Amino acid sequence: MKGKVIILFGSPGAGKGTQARRLVQEFGLKHISTGEILRAEVRDGSELGKKVQEIMEAGELVPDELVNEIIRKRMNDSHCESGFLLDGYPRTVQQAEELRAIAGESPVFVINLLVDEKVILDRLSGRLSCPQCGKIYNVASSASAGGACENCGAQLVQRRDDRGEIIAERLRIYREQTRPVINFYSSRGNYFVVDGSREVGEVFQSVARIVGEIRG
Ligand code: AP5
Repeated sequence: MKGKVIILFGSPGAGKGTQARRLVQEFGLKHISTGEILRAEVRDGSELGKKVQEIMEAGELVPDELVNEIIRKRMNDSHCESGFLLDGYPRTVQQAEELRAIAGESPVFVINLLVDEKVILDRLSGRLSCPQCGKIYNVASSASAGGACENCGAQLVQRRDDRGEIIAERLRIYREQTRPVINFYSSRGNYFVVDGSREVGEVFQSVARIVGEIRG
């Protein structure tokens, strides 16, 4: 692989997917979202999808070796001069170590979107998404009012893991298994923190400034 690696990091509902879509438009980065890839496998009923469906619906983490294999394939098969944008990976220290091996000489940068848990709960319980093009909405925004995607017209849906007790489980796993990944990166430099609790456009301005600096 060739190209810088930028990780959009944060708890469930921090806004990684929302910001990633804008960054791709602005900078032409290659976006790799493990959550989106896994959901597509479940929708297609593939062998991998059958293996992970129950785990994802329970809000648990898919085993490291399965996710690492997805990332290894996507990154080794690609040369993206504009760089790679990872969203939802790495989520354990073991995945972070694997990514170091996959990235090799390519530098890795982390942008951590910080959002308070109370805000996260509102965001996730109100999230709607388009099953066809993946655009993300929230019931709090007028864009979702018609119930159809403004991009492609498909009926918006609620994710199966965006229900009360499953959200709580995802946040517990984030605290226990994913937050330690921050130490892995903050001690190595190339680590940025952004206040993700602000309005989407304001968060984007901060994130885009950092990505601009990273790309030089
Ligand atoms: P994944 O899809 O990665 O889910 P997640 O990390 O829980 O993140 P989310 O998609 O829930 O949130 P987000 O940060 O993208 O927020 P969004 O922009 O949508 O993973 C799903 C599952 O797959 C996992 O639970 C696991 O089972 C498996 N998996 C995936 N990767 C794995 C890995 N590496 N290892 C093991 N298992 C893995 O925004 C959320 C809502 O907030 C939306 O409604 C949006 O409109 C709204 N919003 C966003 N930004 C703002 C803002 N600034 N102001 C107001 N509202 C906002």
